[in-house]
Amino acid sequence: MARMTVPRFVAKKAAGEKLALLTAYDFPFALIIDEAGIDAILVGDSCAMTVMGRETTLGITVDELLHHTKTVAAGASNCLVIADLPFMSYQISPEEAVRNAGRFVAEGGAHCVKLEGPPRRIGRAIHAILDADIPVMGHLGLTPQSIHQFGGFKVQGRDKAAREQMKLDALELEKIGCFGVVLECVPPDLAQEISASLSIPVIGIGAGSGCDGQILVIYDILGWGKTRFSKTFADVRGLLSSAVGDYIREVKSETFPAKEHEYQ
Ligand code: KIV
Repeated sequence: MARMTVPRFVAKKAAGEKLALLTAYDFPFALIIDEAGIDAILVGDSCAMTVMGRETTLGITVDELLHHTKTVAAGASNCLVIADLPFMSYQISPEEAVRNAGRFVAEGGAHCVKLEGPPRRIGRAIHAILDADIPVMGHLGLTPQSIHQFGGFKVQGRDKAAREQMKLDALELEKIGCFGVVLECVPPDLAQEISASLSIPVIGIGAGSGCDGQILVIYDILGWGKTRFSKTFADVRGLLSSAVGDYIREVKSETFPAKEHEYQ
């Protein structure tokens, strides 16, 4: 199977094929997800919450997420690897944005980066990163790095003005040169309208079925998810919990290790 590239990823929209994306944060999960045939893995800054146990995505650093990106890239030999740029790694100046994006590609092994926010705020950073030939994915709607502005994890684009603004922002991201846009927690009719108006893929999370593709956090499909928009495809969390419980019981009751687990 030929490696997924940014142009092939974009072409899937024109071909009418839905794109399937998941997050991953380490080698074993990347290996499984990649082998299953995913189009792209996002090394999301959601790592701060899912793996590091924090309340928000804000505290993860470039070095921390870079470490996870390296482990994901080592396991993902077929799909596109997208690295999230952490909070404050691209807001200060376009120079810092390019330097940090470059680290995710050169050191981390990612193929492209994702930045959160409307083009009026991060357009200069996107231009600078694209000038370094690093493909960029945008992210609109509920952008978790803006959580304190939003006052919580809330659905975005509910009123007319916000809807119109989001449509303009999405068009502008395409015009600037982004190869795709994530739309997070927006009404499905708005997401569908935006998807239809862009020629680049629109990837939804909590944005309904009208997008060109879907992304979910890997743990949310494996039994850890609590959001309305995720679905438990397998209760791996439950399986892990019962496997660990069985192990503890067998050690305590002296049924493990048995003779077959001993060296003769
Ligand atoms: O950080 C993340 O995991 C994300 C997505 C879920 C879109 O940005």
